Amino acid sequence: MSELLKITDLHVEYDTSEETVYAVNGVDLTVGRKETLGLVGETGAGKTTTALSVLRLLPHKIGRISKGSIIYDGEDLLAIKEKVFKKYRGKRISMIFQDPMTSLNPVIPIGKQVAEVIKLHNPDMTKAQIESRVDEMLEMVGIKANRKKDYPNQFSGGMKQRVVIAIALACEPELLIADEPTTALDVTVQAQVLAMMTDLKERLGTSMILITHDLGVVAETCDKVAVMYAGEIVESGTVEDIFGKGNHHPYTIGLFGSLPDLKDDKPRLSPIEGLMPDPTDLPKGCKFHPRCPHCSEKCRTEQPEVMVTNGHSLRCHLFSKEV
Ligand SMILES: Nc1ncnc2c1ncn2[C@@H]1O[C@H](COP(=O)(O)OP(=O)(O)O)[C@@H](O)[C@H]1O
Ligand SMILES: [Mg+2]
Repeated sequence: MSELLKITDLHVEYDTSEETVYAVNGVDLTVGRKETLGLVGETGAGKTTTALSVLRLLPHKIGRISKGSIIYDGEDLLAIKEKVFKKYRGKRISMIFQDPMTSLNPVIPIGKQVAEVIKLHNPDMTKAQIESRVDEMLEMVGIKANRKKDYPNQFSGGMKQRVVIAIALACEPELLIADEPTTALDVTVQAQVLAMMTDLKERLGTSMILITHDLGVVAETCDKVAVMYAGEIVESGTVEDIFGKGNHHPYTIGLFGSLPDLKDDKPRLSPIEGLMPDPTDLPKGCKFHPRCPHCSEKCRTEQPEVMVTNGHSLRCHLFSKEV
């Protein structure tokens, strides 16, 4: 299995004027070629921060990688110069941001925005070649090429998101990081956009990190899943591992419990009690212990190690004795 991206022991901090936010606290993740990894967890878990670290887009002077390594196709992304890194960002690795509506420039026609990205990464292409590539990209995401002179506000939310995806895929990146790409869209459009992304990914052979708080979306789209809580991966494995009957982290079980039951339309049954801990003052021991129904003395004092069984990893004292 050839890995495209390997993140090891990543720690990210934000230094604000008063305090330090411990946003990512020792994350290990790998993404294989043509593989889709779902990164799930509640708001504030550190999902976006992890993604921004890969693209080296943490806010200047505030966000800081304090430890860890990010290896991409054998290259240490944290060691290479910014000038060289520009060849990666937007070319080999693309990102669809959490708020798609703000990623488009309102005063530039959409076709021109797609063209700019293509031009940037293919300086030798002629104007005609770029134009035909723009048409191709727009058609691919289901937008008629004759609408390329239209401005973003002439499109619906779902269509705007398609433009954003066209831009992200215009350079045929090897890795696409999609940060909650459908959160801002209504449910029907969400399903359409996801289906389209899955189809494109399969046709182009793109690897993907899909960030979402929706386990239902993960089940349909991903090969592997990593569940994130308070800046750590508490459980990871294949979709079968995470959705199967085997051992699970109590937080993963809590996330499943908060899925609405589609069959009988009942309200959420067991949302996880309590809130994510304050990232400036994280609890000792297991970071989930204040909310965990299985919390013991050991959980309050000792940080659990990651245990891996056949590729299924768990960071929980309940399973720390198992091999
Ligand atoms: N620019 C920033 N300055 C200070 N804290 C930040 C900043 N960006 C994110 N954080 C904090 O880092 C933590 C992780 O945030 P984030 O990565 O956005 O999580 P997620 O994407 O899982 O919702 C949160 O506690 C958030 O408030
Ligand atoms: Mg986020």
